[in-house]
Amino acid sequence: MKKTVEHITSILSSHAIGIDVSKYEESFLLNSFKNKIFEKKINSENEYLSILENSETEATHFENSLHNNYSEFFRNPLTFSVLERIILPSLTHSIKYSKQKEIRIWSAACASGQEPYSIAMLLEELKSDNTENFSYRIFATDQCDMQIDAAFAGKYESLEMNNVNMKRVKRWFAKNGNSFLIDPLLKKNIEFSKFDLLDKTLNSPANSIFGDFDIAVCSNLLFYYKPKFRNIILEKIQHSISDGGLIITGEAERDIFLNHQFKEVFPQSAIFRV
Ligand SMILES: C[S@@+](CC[C@H](N)C(=O)[O-])C[C@H]1O[C@@H](n2cnc3c(N)ncnc32)[C@H](O)[C@@H]1O
Repeated sequence: MKKTVEHITSILSSHAIGIDVSKYEESFLLNSFKNKIFEKKINSENEYLSILENSETEATHFENSLHNNYSEFFRNPLTFSVLERIILPSLTHSIKYSKQKEIRIWSAACASGQEPYSIAMLLEELKSDNTENFSYRIFATDQCDMQIDAAFAGKYESLEMNNVNMKRVKRWFAKNGNSFLIDPLLKKNIEFSKFDLLDKTLNSPANSIFGDFDIAVCSNLLFYYKPKFRNIILEKIQHSISDGGLIITGEAERDIFLNHQFKEVFPQSAIFRV
């Protein structure tokens, strides 16, 4: 395995196509490599290595396949159910008694926006079901410009709407042909911007000024990176959270947090207290 990974890394760096694949977890690189072999019906690993070596176009395609931007609304149902029923109602209630003026949430790898919009739907629903008034801001960031543009556009195809129940589809989307456009009301409190979590010169999104988030969502990106790079991201997220704040991660990344001695607020919820 190590030899193949070293070979892939050296080929991709010799093509100078822009990303440093040495940051990625070896198993992730190898799986992506094997998926390509399967997809292209290639006979052996050596054959695909040789194609990669000789074709800058194929090397670029392979590199693109390493950028996983997949996301879903309400992606982990258990996490979103705990957020909806327990965490957000308690936060909106407690903010009334604190000096803090607004609830501050960071969606730190927001892809095309499903994650921040799902949270905004929950908060707006709480607002209208509730006599309590509160304000909130969601800082939605990603390293990729195209993802930020797509998130801001807020346009989704039918297949992307799978986890959104009919009540929410009617309330929060306008149908436009085969697409669904997000209600502009949900955009009002979300600030989208580019942010690379591995950039050592940045601590938190510039428009948040100093972080101080009640909740940061860092979901479905840590497992692509080697531990050294995961730790850089984890530390950054941890420092951006206010006292008693929470970090939400992906189902498959719970072990990373448990191994760092974070405390999960409810078993399996993927929500951790800092
Ligand atoms: C698989 S998507 C996950 C999206 C969403 N958080 C979710 O759980 O559905 C991973 C996202 O992480 C972003 N990403 C990867 N590395 C990043 C980094 N170093 N800084 C910021 N965003 C990053 C990618 O651009 C992509 O949009």
